[in-house]
Amino acid sequence: MKVNLAFDVYGTLIDTQGVLEQLKTLVGNKAQLFSDTWRTKQLEYSFRRGLMSRYVPFSICTQDALNFTCDLLNISLTALQKQQLLKQYGCLPAFDDVAIALPKLAQKYRLIAFSNGESDSVQGLLEQAEIADYFHAAVSADEIKTFKPDPQIYQHLLNRIDATAQDTWLISSNPFDVIGAKSNGLHAAWLKRSATAVFDPWGVEPDIEISQLDELLHSLD
Ligand code: 2OP
Repeated sequence: MKVNLAFDVYGTLIDTQGVLEQLKTLVGNKAQLFSDTWRTKQLEYSFRRGLMSRYVPFSICTQDALNFTCDLLNISLTALQKQQLLKQYGCLPAFDDVAIALPKLAQKYRLIAFSNGESDSVQGLLEQAEIADYFHAAVSADEIKTFKPDPQIYQHLLNRIDATAQDTWLISSNPFDVIGAKSNGLHAAWLKRSATAVFDPWGVEPDIEISQLDELLHSLD
């Protein structure tokens, strides 16, 4: 049986900084700060909603975080401008190494997209990046109304693909996701997407650290 590789989506396969160009036209030199704040707050909202058992779809966390970011940075965007930014979030680009690595990895492993995002959003992103066909399944946290790193989501992944933790790797650029997977017995690879990224010093380490997805071809055996 093939080993399963479950790929995180936002920040791992798909570049959340893909809104930067549009942000530059709207907020000029605050674009990077805006983008970083928006992403950080989106994740914070998912964590808090998970802890409080106050689930809303991830797209609502994204929308609420956009409104917060505008308020924090004192930037006034029209309803249409916000709508256009959210639309752009629905067609973010894949990182360059994705299209190179997935065809090779799909020959050797069973690939799964595994995300906080709703199924429709994830499917839409994979299709417009022309990588949807490489995946055996897309598993969304929305199916059980919780968010990473709730332990239930990692068990749900295994249930959905009928796999054991021993046969399954999580591939993620998000340290909280790697620690979540490792804490539930899965193997995990940390994809260090930027030279300045730091892994959480919790005493739970990824099994491997990579900087490009095709390194997986030689690192998992
Ligand atoms: C995801 O795609 C956490 O953004 C991450 O699930």
